[in-house]
Amino acid sequence: MLEKYLNFIRCVSMKWQGKLGVILATSSFITMILLEFFRLIGALTNAYIGLVTYLALPLLFVIGLILVTLGWYSRRKETGKSTEELLAMQCRAQDVKGGLSGSRVFKTVLVFSLVNVIFLSSVSLRMFSFMDEAEFCGTACHSVMNPEWVTYKQSPHARVDCVECHVGEGTGALISSKMNGIWQMVSVTFDLLERPIPTPVTQLRPARETCEKCHWPEKFYGNSLRSIVSYDLDSGSTAKYTTLNMKVDAERATWKAGIHWHVAEENEVHYAFADDERTEIIWAEAKQPDGSFRRYNNSQLIEAEAIDSRSMDCVDCHNRATHIYEDPSKAIDSRIRIGLLSRELPFLKREALAAISAGYADRKSAMDGIANHMHHFYRTSYPELALAKMMAIDSAVTTLQAIYNRNIHHNMKIEWGSYPSHIGHTNETNGCFRCHNVYFKDDENESIGYDCTLCHSILAEEQDQPFKFLLVPDTLDPNYQMHKYLQQEFINS
Ligand code: HEC
Ligand code: HEC
Ligand code: HEC
Ligand code: HEC
Ligand code: HEC
Repeated sequence: MLEKYLNFIRCVSMKWQGKLGVILATSSFITMILLEFFRLIGALTNAYIGLVTYLALPLLFVIGLILVTLGWYSRRKETGKSTEELLAMQCRAQDVKGGLSGSRVFKTVLVFSLVNVIFLSSVSLRMFSFMDEAEFCGTACHSVMNPEWVTYKQSPHARVDCVECHVGEGTGALISSKMNGIWQMVSVTFDLLERPIPTPVTQLRPARETCEKCHWPEKFYGNSLRSIVSYDLDSGSTAKYTTLNMKVDAERATWKAGIHWHVAEENEVHYAFADDERTEIIWAEAKQPDGSFRRYNNSQLIEAEAIDSRSMDCVDCHNRATHIYEDPSKAIDSRIRIGLLSRELPFLKREALAAISAGYADRKSAMDGIANHMHHFYRTSYPELALAKMMAIDSAVTTLQAIYNRNIHHNMKIEWGSYPSHIGHTNETNGCFRCHNVYFKDDENESIGYDCTLCHSILAEEQDQPFKFLLVPDTLDPNYQMHKYLQQEFINS
């Protein structure tokens, strides 16, 4: 068998190109098989290995085959002989008898070509499915995609592949995503990428075609309770409770609609914006039952020029559905709540916040800075406690460093607040208040609703009790009327 193969190789490899080609093709083929074998038995797990196995090696393999052909042509040109004559010169007589197309060599070439075609197509298929794995998308361009990967791994979508949201179904989507992927590889290699990666993503597949595979508007009904606990900057890091009953439904009988009204089957909201971030909204219009559109103009931006307009979808609100970057204060609140940070340490919230939000030049100095800040504070202000609670302080340092590493990415220029979320209305972004505010008025001078109970019932707002407004109100309380109103509103909603 080997003898036959060697004879064949000797026969077809002309000149140095041909020899090099044979070496390339054979060795890349064998390496590919070996690497795939090791991957299958679980000995190789690195995301880069796929790039070598399914991209680099097949490429070398093809180059090898091309070189063999080149060798032939150049030899033919050089000697002026025909293919048949060359074969007769190069190969054993029994391999070339029967003319060019009847010879054993020809048959072998035919079989090899067929095997090559099958082999290369299955490798390409494998390459496509490999490139669709979240592991690849998130780690192959490590430094660039690391922030997205880190935030994704800790999100509710950590088990959903990147391509489910970023590519979606259909051949068109597949092709355009692969073209885009090639461009991304080029821009990573030559460092042409903008840092941080700009958002919103303009070529994102319409969210309704991707998100709705798993969540669809009719599925949203009733209310959804949000309990938010925040901690004061005082010595005990006192807890304050905010409880909202979110009106998440798309339709409701007693009322016009809830939050997912924008994406309900029969509704459509369009808006025009003046900036790339889509935060300066010039007008917003909603489809009416008769098919016409009711437009609300932003009286603050009458003069502004629209750069584009779009139909509102999931991502206009859920822009941080999976790459969730935290607000420093909320990040600390959530770690206190799950017990990773101990409120037995005096001024924990205040000091933790100061430690993680100080500006640091790079990751290394941030890690040292956070540790120094916490140790220094307790050692100087509470020397006895610093000794007694050494463990709690150490674990606070580890937790704070982890918060920092999740949210701040120096190499991609991602700082606190680089990627604000549009859900709600925080200090970072107006979120819903981009449209729901006093300045958006239609021709009849009616504005888009912005009542505090339009989107949520407020059951407590930074109170000492999580359901404060549902408790029996105290008639002497200066907020008695509001208290009563909110209670009634909740009962009616
Ligand atoms: C649940 C859906 C979903 C999944 C899964 C997902 N993404 Fe995203 N991704 C989004 C949305 C939504 C945006 C923001 C789009 C916008 O604001 O226009 C986004 C934005 C991005 C951005 C631009 C930067 C930014 O944060 O706005 C990059 C890069 C990115 N994703 C990469 C990835 C990678 C890599 C993976 C897999 C490890 C992944 N995504 C998985 C939905 C998803
Ligand atoms: C392949 C299925 C799938 C796709 C596609 C998908 N999601 Fe999800 N989504 C899930 C799962 C699973 C959960 C987690 C449910 C849970 O934890 O209860 C989830 C949770 C959520 C949540 C609730 C998060 C929370 O904190 O509880 C939101 C909001 C959400 N998805 C929005 C989106 C948006 C926006 C898109 C499109 C960009 C999207 N999803 C695409 C499966 C998907
Ligand atoms: C107008 C803004 C807006 C649009 C558009 C929107 N959502 Fe939401 N969605 C919200 C808000 C606000 C919540 C409540 C979030 C919270 O309190 O955490 C929510 C909650 C959710 C939840 C969690 C449901 C629950 O009961 O807690 C899912 C899942 C979700 N949205 C998916 C989607 C999908 C998929 C789309 C597109 C078809 C979409 N949303 C469109 C604003 C929006
Ligand atoms: C791009 C502009 C825009 C943004 C951003 C926006 N909305 Fe709206 N929203 C509208 C328009 C327009 C209407 C329809 C108003 C009308 O004609 O009654 C509407 C209607 C609603 C309604 C139904 C009101 C009613 O009268 O029944 C709710 C609830 C709502 N929005 C909640 C939200 C929430 C929550 C967010 C943020 C997560 C949000 N919206 C973000 C434009 C927007
Ligand atoms: C257009 C819809 C809308 C209107 C109008 C609205 N909110 Fe909200 N609000 C939201 C959404 C969405 C969130 C985010 C809930 C979450 O974080 O899960 C939110 C969050 C909040 C929070 C919690 C903030 C936090 O995370 O600590 C408070 C408090 C609040 N709203 C109070 C108000 C008050 C007071 C008003 C009236 C001035 C108001 N809201 C009007 C949609 C609205």
